[in-house]
Amino acid sequence: MFRDGLLKGKRILVTGGGTGLGKEMAEDYLRLGAEVYICGRRKHVLAETAKALMDKHGGSVKTHGVDIRVAGAVDEMIGEIWADGGPLTGLVNNAAGNFISPTKDLSPKGFDAIAGIVFHGSFYVTHACGKRWIEGGDKGSVISILTTWVWNGGPFTVPSAMSKAGINIMTQSLAAEWGQYGIRLNSIAPGPFPTKGAWERLSPGQSLEGDTSREGIPMGRVGKMDELKNLATFLMADGCEYLTGQCIAIDGGSYQAGGGNFSRLSRLSEEEWDNMRDMIRSANEK
Ligand code: HXC
Repeated sequence: MFRDGLLKGKRILVTGGGTGLGKEMAEDYLRLGAEVYICGRRKHVLAETAKALMDKHGGSVKTHGVDIRVAGAVDEMIGEIWADGGPLTGLVNNAAGNFISPTKDLSPKGFDAIAGIVFHGSFYVTHACGKRWIEGGDKGSVISILTTWVWNGGPFTVPSAMSKAGINIMTQSLAAEWGQYGIRLNSIAPGPFPTKGAWERLSPGQSLEGDTSREGIPMGRVGKMDELKNLATFLMADGCEYLTGQCIAIDGGSYQAGGGNFSRLSRLSEEEWDNMRDMIRSANEK
């Protein structure tokens, strides 16, 4: 869909780029000529991903082991990236944490674990890049990976929905505040694009393809990774420099059809919730 070398000269950081959607986007950016940085909490996973991507496409993928919940560590990482080869040109706020749970059963720490990554962490990384772009007179493009729940709420995923809604408002606010510096911020709201990490926490026990009839997806299937990557590349490319402050859904029509969230889980019994919780926790322990 895009010409070779489209992103030559770009330097892009993908948070949570070691696995899942982040890894997929990082691969496309690399394939199209960008220098890529990925960060995450598990250094060995990042190292394996960087090696695999460079073996396949050549180019440069550098890794930073960092927990984006820690503001000081984020600022240090962004400083190191700037020192390594100059300003980033793009940032993807992809790192996230989530699990389904009745909200009454959440502990404050459970809430904080997710809000720390999604709400605080996405801001820390955006802020650390933005202040450097403004100081250096450099342009930048930020993409945040959100969900359609930012528009209609996320029953059983309240910490994630609240946090992502906050990042949607960050996108809109900073598009207006930082537009004068040539800094663009947009968001993508993916529907079901099955990845192991998300599925184990959001649809425990279900196959990666999901039950598309039950999920109520008008297009009758889950998303194809290429479709998401194409949008993430388009938003990062120079050709859409007038596009900012938007959140674009890519969900096969789920949001229009039924809201795309987990409201159907209201039917689960306490026993079924206990089973779900055990399956999700065993995913966390892997
Ligand atoms: C209830 C739970 C729980 C569960 C953890 N907790 N899992 N509570 N139900 N299933 C509680 C713990 O009991 C603890 O509180 C607190 O959360 C912190 O747990 P830790 O495991 O110590 O935290 P941590 O290691 O930081 O793990 C963070 C995490 C974990 C978010 C809980 O799931 C994780 O690392 N996830 C990263 C990957 C991920 O989630 N990917 C999916 C993103 S999908 P107490 O009080 O007991 O100490 C996504 C898609 C959104 O975002 C939209 C899609 C359309």
